[in-house]
Amino acid sequence: MSGVHPTRSVLDWLREDARCTGTKEGCNEGDCGACTVVIGELSASGEALDLQTVNACIQFLPTLHGKALFTVEDLKGQCGAPKRDPALHDKRPVHPLHPVQQAMADCHGSQCGFCTPGFVMSLWSTYEHHQAQGTQPTRQQLADDLSGNLCRCTGYRPIIDAGQRMFDLPAVRLDTAPVVAALRTLQREGSFDYAAPLGARIDHFHAPRTLDQLAALRMEKPGARILAGSTDVGLWVNKQFRDLGDILFVGDVADMKAVEVRGDAVDGELYIGAGASLERAFAALVARVPSLADVWLRFASPPIRHAGTMGGNVANGSPIGDSPPVLMALDAEIELRQGARVRRMPLADFYLDYMKNQLESGEFVQGIAVPLTAMQRQVRAYKISKRFDCDISALCAGFAIALDEGVVTDVRLAFGGMAATVRRAALAEAALVGKPWTQASVNAARQALAQDFQPLSDMRASAGYRLQVAQNLIQRLWLETRTQDALPTSATSVWSVMPHAVGDAAIREGARA
Ligand SMILES: Cc1cc2nc3c(=O)[nH]c(=O)nc-3n(C[C@H](O)[C@H](O)[C@H](O)COP(=O)(O)OP(=O)(O)OC[C@H]3O[C@@H](n4cnc5c(N)ncnc54)[C@H](O)[C@@H]3O)c2cc1C
Ligand code: FES
Ligand code: FES
Repeated sequence: MSGVHPTRSVLDWLREDARCTGTKEGCNEGDCGACTVVIGELSASGEALDLQTVNACIQFLPTLHGKALFTVEDLKGQCGAPKRDPALHDKRPVHPLHPVQQAMADCHGSQCGFCTPGFVMSLWSTYEHHQAQGTQPTRQQLADDLSGNLCRCTGYRPIIDAGQRMFDLPAVRLDTAPVVAALRTLQREGSFDYAAPLGARIDHFHAPRTLDQLAALRMEKPGARILAGSTDVGLWVNKQFRDLGDILFVGDVADMKAVEVRGDAVDGELYIGAGASLERAFAALVARVPSLADVWLRFASPPIRHAGTMGGNVANGSPIGDSPPVLMALDAEIELRQGARVRRMPLADFYLDYMKNQLESGEFVQGIAVPLTAMQRQVRAYKISKRFDCDISALCAGFAIALDEGVVTDVRLAFGGMAATVRRAALAEAALVGKPWTQASVNAARQALAQDFQPLSDMRASAGYRLQVAQNLIQRLWLETRTQDALPTSATSVWSVMPHAVGDAAIREGARA
């Protein structure tokens, strides 16, 4: 690769330079899945290949350095030599279809076909994953895996049928050994630096490998744009035509991808490196707090969660970001690094105003720490959006409550979508602490919430709707956690009383457990 600007998307490169036009462009903003491709990376052990779907339209080409890219064209060679079909009028040899493609054809999973390569790549990733485990997905798991792929003609039932049918056909597995061997030869110790002109200017792309390299580069170039999963930044380029200048890519810094428990059960924490994917970060949280499963599976889509990071979600600081309310409810701290200095602060203190935070020049987010003790409270997270899957929140709430003999000893009520930043509802919390966990206390907290927030009206929701729903969510928390007759989430979620539409909440939680 040379002369290609660092922000050239993988999709544009595929279609316009490599002439691999199987991958389609729909929305060009990560929403429709027409551009779904699969990225292969060496596993932590260096012995295996990890495959993950991403949206090619919002990934920048240099971020692929040292990785394998699989597109729909790559399925062709996996199923043997081309054959002639005597039944066909056209006697030219045709490639046998991969089981994923054959199942789509058998189940009538395609009509105009525009979305089909994207669906096929998502299904192929599911297929490889389950073949490796010796398992098969449920229909709900298939629906979750396909939640980032839109089809305007076929309807999803035949596509999910295909997702099951593909396992009934003779198996075809990717031969990963040559890919692993090739990727090993591309491993490097030092930073990957790339430069290309934009008019009279030269733009640089730096991909350090270690935290120290990143910290040094950040001090040297405090004006460079930090790039993680590019699920926000990619849209700035595609939709707002923003000029990023130099880029500091954090996705190759192995130490920043750690997701691990540090310390013991009393003082310990779940540490989430800022470069860990949203998928891994939420999986670790949900393993300890299963009630967060709904927010996890409804955060964007699998391709976005594979590329996007929790560090990016927190650093971006959108008032409607879904991780910050959850993390604030869990008393998370944010870890910041500037040169050799590392400092921490409660995430609740990090945001100053709309898209303004405490980051200083030359500083970056290194990680997020969630105290293990905070996970022992009763925790809930509720996402309110117009669409169930892959939609931005109108509001999102993260709640945690501790009771002692029916009295509230500790409570966190954090909201996104209610103010210029995600923040806790100080007055509503104060109305509950030390009070019995009763309907009367809940009513007082709901009233106090109207003093905590004066939300805005926008295209997602009106101010009145936001406040009413936020107050209702406190009621819902009470219904689910009251000391007598607490209701299961299946009785309080509108989605779970419509299992035919989206699946039962309990099934969703169980699906990933
Ligand atoms: C289709 C689609 C659906 C989405 N759905 C949701 C959703 O449901 N909920 C939601 O909350 N968000 C959603 N998003 C937004 C986005 O996915 C998240 O904000 C994501 O977590 C951003 O992470 P990233 O790694 O992609 O960040 P990037 O796009 O790479 O960066 C985002 C910002 O953070 C900065 N940054 C990144 N890492 C660091 C760091 N370590 N230190 C300092 N600064 C840093 C970057 O400079 C940039 O300003 C969606 C986006 C798309 C495209
Ligand atoms: S083109 Fe729609 S997700 Fe990429
Ligand atoms: S088959 Fe036409 S959009 Fe899916």
